[in-house]
Amino acid sequence: MHWLRVQPDDVVVDATIGLGGHSAALGSRLGSGGTLIGLDRDPEALRKAGTVLAGLACRVVIRQANFGECAALLAETGIGRANVIFADLGVNSEQLDDPARGFSFQADGPLDMRLDPDAPTQASDLVNRLSEKELGDLIYENAQEPASRKIARRIHEARRSGRIMTTGHLARLVCEAVGVDPSSRRSRIHPATRTFQALRIAVNDEMSALDRFLEAAPDLLHAGGRIGVISFHSGEDRRVKRDFLRRRGEGVYRIVTKKPVVADEPERDANPRSRSAKFRVAVREPAGEAWIAAGGAPEPDEGSDETGDES
Ligand SMILES: C[S@@+](CC[C@H](N)C(=O)[O-])C[C@H]1O[C@@H](n2cnc3c(N)ncnc32)[C@H](O)[C@@H]1O
Repeated sequence: MHWLRVQPDDVVVDATIGLGGHSAALGSRLGSGGTLIGLDRDPEALRKAGTVLAGLACRVVIRQANFGECAALLAETGIGRANVIFADLGVNSEQLDDPARGFSFQADGPLDMRLDPDAPTQASDLVNRLSEKELGDLIYENAQEPASRKIARRIHEARRSGRIMTTGHLARLVCEAVGVDPSSRRSRIHPATRTFQALRIAVNDEMSALDRFLEAAPDLLHAGGRIGVISFHSGEDRRVKRDFLRRRGEGVYRIVTKKPVVADEPERDANPRSRSAKFRVAVREPAGEAWIAAGGAPEPDEGSDETGDES
């Protein structure tokens, strides 16, 4: 909340409303002249968030949408530009904890992993259809899994005796591939973590949605408006960091989080899923006369706690 600086009459876009936790905090800073727009691909999340946000004073607009299509959505609502655009990437805790959604190797369930249950491709489609090389590339590129080739080979071999349709089956194959018995493992991280993450990213085309979101964001922000993104793995964080640095070079953003903001020790203990979270924030600057002519406003004063950029 400190970094996003919501003012009572602002337009705030929560691009990943999830279970409404961040939206409730952002919305509590908005008055009756403010607007909160919440998006999510998952209709189940929208239903839950709607209940959480029912008491807010501001106008609340909730839509099932991919944040990659944020620009079209803002145009459609007639709002145009926002003061704050926020995204908290990945999956929410209920998606992760519900075996029927197929995101987790902790309990057996269908190998699904779709954020939007109407999307055409499930994780089982990729696992059973891709070639060994394609699978290895996917697991390496999306999650930097060092054993990606071994895992792809084991999956490919196992397919000869039948389709792989459950999270439990896939998790066992990954453990066999890397020669680890998960019940006796010493590491805190399950051997299948990165394989599951890589498949989820592919099933939901997460990197390309993030690229489209970052590409559209400057034109959706008022001058002095803020974009904040929480990411959970290096591939996402690298994209956010590079986008902010490029825009800074173009005079479009000023980066205000000198280093990515991370959870402190007490928060990590209370909420272990916050361990890998990185939060970056940039402020929209006026860049060139054309932009100002298109409706740019002067930038408000900054507090002394923000010390410029990240080197
Ligand atoms: C980490 S959770 C957000 C949790 C939320 N900030 C809260 O306080 O409850 C990420 C959410 O983003 C959604 N999501 C992921 N990719 C999306 C996309 N491309 N477009 C819209 N929503 C997306 C997921 O369905 C999930 O609910």
